[in-house]
Amino acid sequence: MTDINRFMRRELDKFVGYAACKSPEALDRETRAMGILKLDANENVYGPSPRVKAALASFDDAHIYPDSCQTELRKALAVYTGVAAEHIVAGSGSDQLIDLLIRLFVNPGDEVLTATPTFAMYKFFTELAGGKFVTVSRDDEFNLVPEKLIKAISKKTKLIFIAMPNNPTGTQISVDAVKKIIDTGVPVVVDEAYYEFTGQTLAPELDKYPNLMILRTFSKWAGLAGLRVGYGLLPVNVAEKLDAIKDPYCVNAAAVTAARESLNDVDYLMGNVKLMISERDRLFNALSSIKYLKPYPSAANFILCKVKARIALQIQVVLERRGILVRYFNSPQMENCLRFSIGRPEDTDRLIAELQKIGEM
Ligand SMILES: Cc1ncc(COP(=O)(O)O)c(C=O)c1O
Repeated sequence: MTDINRFMRRELDKFVGYAACKSPEALDRETRAMGILKLDANENVYGPSPRVKAALASFDDAHIYPDSCQTELRKALAVYTGVAAEHIVAGSGSDQLIDLLIRLFVNPGDEVLTATPTFAMYKFFTELAGGKFVTVSRDDEFNLVPEKLIKAISKKTKLIFIAMPNNPTGTQISVDAVKKIIDTGVPVVVDEAYYEFTGQTLAPELDKYPNLMILRTFSKWAGLAGLRVGYGLLPVNVAEKLDAIKDPYCVNAAAVTAARESLNDVDYLMGNVKLMISERDRLFNALSSIKYLKPYPSAANFILCKVKARIALQIQVVLERRGILVRYFNSPQMENCLRFSIGRPEDTDRLIAELQKIGEM
């Protein structure tokens, strides 16, 4: 009998994959009956624009392949971002663009550099491509120290990833600090997944730096995480190469429709972003009042907390039994941590009430 394992790539033997969030479908019926409050994946609790829902309800193009050049979407993104369409490539979530950029730049044995803790998909796709994931640690408050990162650049460094702001810590980095890193000449990917929550972007610098690449997504501000739309603002030569190596139909027709309608309803969606930003402040204060938690300031739509003198995993399990899903971390530098996505005011109240009850246990 053929052992099919023998034919697989040996370097993937130890590849463990990405620990994705638990789907509410995986929870038992009793828990689901409580009403699931999903605060584990930094989604947008307000959901998409009503224009998206209306357009999808009458969507009639499922049998037609989408435009492989994404002409309409890229034109609309040019208006939204102020960056010409020839610099823009869309993908199935910014995750896919992270993958494609790594495939474009990284040969087996090449290095991808970042400051950890950070977004787990950078490591995932680097290792999948046979690259070496090289990291420097952030400081005690999770700030990226540019000098430390620059020191770690080697001849094999092909890409540097900087999440601005960073996930899972929420930490922001200044534009000037990022520019110091770009000035090294090494290709730098600035991941602006949470741009709409900060207004801080490197987009106006795109013409100055041939080694600057920016990634954005519709998952957070526009509430389209389930439809998977991301885009890159890139030097034209990189955009052309990505276009050549990407799956032509990588953004499906329903997703293109949803992205277009989101861009037609920016004011509405940004209203929800504003609500989440003010709720973030309220959640931060409420978490600070809980003795066993240390929240870290966040520029994104979530707050990371260190759990003191208690076991974070147990708290996550108790919350899950009560219908609240939160993200648990226990890795170097992120020992015993929980991350809470920002919800509506009533979601904050429900979460805080449960955390207080746990405090009394
Ligand atoms: C920093 C960062 N980059 C990229 C992504 C991926 O976004 P998308 O849903 O567009 O794949 C996330 C999602 O959480 C993120 O936090």
